[in-house]
Amino acid sequence: MTERTLSIIKPDGVARGLIGEVVKRFESAGIRIVAMKMVHMTRTQAEGFYAVHRERPFFDSLTTFMSSGPAVVMVLEGDNVIARNRELMGATNFKDAAEGTIRRDFATDIEKNVVHGSDAPETAAFEIAYFFNQFEIVGG
Ligand code: CMP
Repeated sequence: MTERTLSIIKPDGVARGLIGEVVKRFESAGIRIVAMKMVHMTRTQAEGFYAVHRERPFFDSLTTFMSSGPAVVMVLEGDNVIARNRELMGATNFKDAAEGTIRRDFATDIEKNVVHGSDAPETAAFEIAYFFNQFEIVGG
């Protein structure tokens, strides 16, 4: 089933020059990028994006990090793309991530883990709408 997911190249990934590397992995996997832009989130925007985590002990640190510099937000489209993106990213904690995944290859820290991807269709819908309106996504 064709679906969409939100991908973020986090501020650590952008600062370290990993935009091209991450995009190449998506394209090589046959995933279509149907929207893309750079954003430098405010703290409030980061808090809204990660609202589901607001009770977690890492919330303050996470939202400070996510608003610390520019990030790249993308809408990815393809068959089963939510799960496929999560496979390409690897586990949240890079120490648990499989060989050849983005986080295993590049992450340095459980928080500074280079990329974010939606975890389910409902979160994908919320996360895509958080950054993009319908006119910013190609192919309607
Ligand atoms: P992400 O997939 O963007 O979802 C929540 C983020 O919180 C996660 O990636 C990490 O960047 C960050 N984080 C920091 N500490 C933890 C933790 N202990 N468990 C899960 N996520 C964490």
